[in-house]
Amino acid sequence: MWCCILVAAAVFGHGLAGNIASATLYPQDTHQNKSTLSGAPPCDALVAVGLRDSVLFPSDNGYEPQIESWFALNSRLRPWCLVLPRNTADVSLVVTTLVKAGSGAGDWHIALRSGGHNIDGNNIANGVTIDLSFMNSSDYNPSTNTASIEPGGRWEHTYASLQDHGVTVAGGRDGDVGVGGFLLGGGISFFSGRLGFGCDSVTNFEVVLANGSVVNANERVNSDLWRALKGGSGNFGIVTRYDLESIPTRDLARDLRFLPSNYSDLVVDTVVDFANHDESLGDDALVSFFTYNYKSHGKTISPDLAIGTIHVNTAGNWSSKTSYNRLEQLPAILNQTTTQNMAEAAAASKVDGGTWAARSTRTFKNDPVILRYSNKLHEEYVEAMKEIIGADNFSTVMFLQPIPSSLGRIGQQRGGNMLGLQNVKDNAVMWTGGVTVYSDEAALSVAKEGLDRMSAQIKSFSESNSGGIDFIYANYADDSQDPLGSYGADNVQHMREVAAKYDPTGVFQTRIPGGFKISRVV
Ligand SMILES: Cc1cc2nc3c(=O)[nH]c(=O)nc-3n(C[C@H](O)[C@H](O)[C@H](O)COP(=O)(O)OP(=O)(O)OC[C@H]3O[C@@H](n4cnc5c(N)ncnc54)[C@H](O)[C@@H]3O)c2cc1C
Ligand SMILES: *[C@@H]1O[C@H](CO)[C@@H](O)[C@H](O)[C@H]1NC(C)=O
Ligand SMILES: *[C@@H]1O[C@H](CO)[C@@H](O)[C@H](O)[C@H]1NC(C)=O
Ligand SMILES: *[C@@H]1O[C@H](CO)[C@@H](O)[C@H](O)[C@H]1NC(C)=O
Ligand SMILES: *[C@@H]1O[C@H](CO)[C@@H](O)[C@H](O)[C@H]1NC(C)=O
Ligand SMILES: *[C@@H]1O[C@H](CO)[C@@H](O)[C@H](O)[C@H]1NC(C)=O
Ligand SMILES: *[C@@H]1O[C@H](CO)[C@@H](O)[C@H](O)[C@H]1NC(C)=O
Ligand SMILES: *[C@@H]1O[C@H](CO)[C@@H](O)[C@H](O)[C@H]1NC(C)=O
Repeated sequence: MWCCILVAAAVFGHGLAGNIASATLYPQDTHQNKSTLSGAPPCDALVAVGLRDSVLFPSDNGYEPQIESWFALNSRLRPWCLVLPRNTADVSLVVTTLVKAGSGAGDWHIALRSGGHNIDGNNIANGVTIDLSFMNSSDYNPSTNTASIEPGGRWEHTYASLQDHGVTVAGGRDGDVGVGGFLLGGGISFFSGRLGFGCDSVTNFEVVLANGSVVNANERVNSDLWRALKGGSGNFGIVTRYDLESIPTRDLARDLRFLPSNYSDLVVDTVVDFANHDESLGDDALVSFFTYNYKSHGKTISPDLAIGTIHVNTAGNWSSKTSYNRLEQLPAILNQTTTQNMAEAAAASKVDGGTWAARSTRTFKNDPVILRYSNKLHEEYVEAMKEIIGADNFSTVMFLQPIPSSLGRIGQQRGGNMLGLQNVKDNAVMWTGGVTVYSDEAALSVAKEGLDRMSAQIKSFSESNSGGIDFIYANYADDSQDPLGSYGADNVQHMREVAAKYDPTGVFQTRIPGGFKISRVV
């Protein structure tokens, strides 16, 4: 959800990405006795097929640091063991081994993780987590203009590596977000105005199916699977490589500012204008968020309500004229204008993790009345939470992102995806509420309750103002929401058929239960 925030440009490496070559995951762990049984059948089954060097048990020194690489505290669960495959063949062996290990008489399952930036669905306490972190390399083929990217890469490093080849792709804005989940859920990038969702740039997926077979899915081969994976997420197989149509690398013109909260009407009008842009302004992207107690790298940017705005011109054109210009005149709490390459922009947009988090999302017609209503609810929410959980114990971000109708059209032109936005003829705005809680899980449950209520109120207000749009974006949705079910009957039917065809025994529905599952759509 949180995208693209700020502040100090972090240092980033330019090295070519590559697989971890060493024989063990962590040098400290070489002393482990590899023949000892753990007593956890699925973990022992992994060891028995020769994968001990890819498994981390809780007693291994590398285990805790790896758990801390998940973004939200909510998802820092501790499985019986982690398995970190290094290549597609490993993934195939891991899947068949874990499925064969059965589920015993208990209730253990398998989780799957790429960048670990979702709040839930990517880890498990009762069972085994397949962690694709070490499959993070990328490469470029100039003859096909294709970037091949492994799922465990983070966008900052992936961009740095692709820049060495002179190219980039429509990937994430926050440099820590993972390639794997981002592209399967859709993927809103700075290039969305021109290129649609990130998934619309995928020309081929390499996929490990539930029975261990490795297949490719593209326009010519397994095209039903190709289309289903664009937005249909973890319902069909484990994607081990994404081939993306590339574009020349470039510098972005990026303006970031924090404004006093009393300018909310002007910012709302700016968002509305952006969502009504025609495609001639497709290089200009706007992200705006209404926030309370905003922190970056542990430092408080604004202890009270404020508004964040980020304007990017992806052609690096500082003279581009948009309604954003009027915000540049306002006295800012903080402002930064920087010309940055993709890796730098991603590094500068990383959001702190390691806190409790909740989120919810809605989409509605581009009507300023609804946007203003969502602001009013946010301000009331902040007041209520200050009372209940304490003013310093939480932060909020409430994003308003333009979803022009051209997004659905672009997706359709590029082969189609599962999001169903081509059926939304109106320009729209996506609301994403996020709350970060610093104190404890009890406070999180209170904050989540309030957030879910705010989300429901926005839905009913939009509907009663003839502004309702069903679309719920999976990458920002809470587990209580039903994004796949919001993508339209045709797409639901397509995902059901593809899941049944490529995973006839339902491994991705029942044994890997995290994320949004097509079998649970009513
Ligand atoms: C700080 C922050 C900024 C964000 N910014 C943006 C943004 O700008 N635009 C946007 O669209 N979204 C954004 N998001 C949302 C983000 O796209 C999703 O959370 C996405 O799922 C993260 O990808 P990941 O690889 O880190 O996911 P993970 O948490 O690792 O996985 C997410 C889900 O996908 C499944 N999955 C992961 N990899 C695979 C695979 N290889 N094969 C099959 N299933 C898989 C997992 O099982 C899990 O259910 C942001 C999120 C955060 C926290
Ligand atoms: C490893 O454990 C097994 C079984 O407990 C034991 O027989 C063996 O001696 C141990 N090996 C080492 C190198 O410690
Ligand atoms: C891959 O992981 C290694 C080890 O964590 C890291 O040094 C490298 O930068 C990563 N590369 C990418 C593209 O994420
Ligand atoms: C907003 O508040 C600032 C002080 O933070 C003040 O200078 C400005 O005049 C106010 N603007 C509006 C439109 O209320
Ligand atoms: C930059 O934007 C301005 C204003 O929209 C436009 O006139 C100009 O042609 C653009 N420059 C480039 C290089 O696209
Ligand atoms: C932007 O920040 C600079 C300091 O970095 C300040 O001098 C300037 O007044 C700010 N501009 C606005 C519009 O607030
Ligand atoms: C914030 O959380 C801490 C830790 O749970 C708690 O001690 C404190 O009372 C909370 N603050 C307020 C104002 O409620
Ligand atoms: C694996 O599953 C796919 C999809 O159901 C099927 O086409 C393929 O034949 C299976 N492979 C094996 C070896 O059973």
